[in-house]
Amino acid sequence: MRELLKLIQTRQSARVLFDPGRAMDKNDLHAILEAARWAPTAHNMQNFEIIIVDNKKLLERIAQVKFPTSLAFVRENYQQLSFSEEELQRKKVGILGTMFPLSWRKPDVQPEDILALEENPFIKKAIQSSAALLIVLYDPQRRAPASEGDFLGIVSLGCVMENMLLMAHSLGIGCHVVSSLSAGPVQKELKSLLKIPEHLMIAFSLRLGYPASTTEYLRVRRDIDDFTHRNQYGKRGGS
Ligand SMILES: Cc1cc2nc3c(=O)[nH]c(=O)nc-3n(C[C@H](O)[C@H](O)[C@H](O)COP(=O)(O)O)c2cc1C
Repeated sequence: MRELLKLIQTRQSARVLFDPGRAMDKNDLHAILEAARWAPTAHNMQNFEIIIVDNKKLLERIAQVKFPTSLAFVRENYQQLSFSEEELQRKKVGILGTMFPLSWRKPDVQPEDILALEENPFIKKAIQSSAALLIVLYDPQRRAPASEGDFLGIVSLGCVMENMLLMAHSLGIGCHVVSSLSAGPVQKELKSLLKIPEHLMIAFSLRLGYPASTTEYLRVRRDIDDFTHRNQYGKRGGS
């Protein structure tokens, strides 16, 4: 039990370059996919397909795709950033601004500014360095019974993600969720490149690899008493 908690607590996003010379171990990849396979899904829908990209030329090609900066993302991201470690430690929620390019850390970015915004250069190098990129697909036309907006199906995809993240971590493999591959124009290009059928969508992507540098960074979480309510909402003392 304690070991599982330790594993959960020590897993962290590997927003680092991976060792480009180190290929994915076949057995490790199999274990990660096995973890996905046994994830709980609403109505046991198993509502996912996974494309494993481990061909270096293809990773290179994906890294060439243009990842346009979204004005909505930059604006909403700014609202939630912390600008110092002290601020982040106090808030216990969100991420540190220094993770993003300087031009993304500008209050009230205007549409005309967006052209001048840098493309995040890290993402391209990060994709190139990956031992494998797992692209998880789902069919938005299929849904868990009576689940409006397929809320339960989406939650299920989160279970698939977490199972894979924990398995990768337990094997010493760095894992990084990359949401930008699901963004409209990027997704369109990837669908064509990877021959993804029209009716499927990219839910999320995971970069996997063996970290070339430390993945350590300041990670914060709310205290249990900050999000638990005993017997009625607002009554603290859950733990
Ligand atoms: C659905 C989802 C989408 C995410 N998208 C990204 C992403 O696009 N880029 C990124 O660097 N991290 C992404 N993350 C990672 C979170 O930012 C990260 O889990 C959170 O900041 C906590 O940090 P930790 O994973 O190191 O504990 C995503 C996580 C989830 C669950």
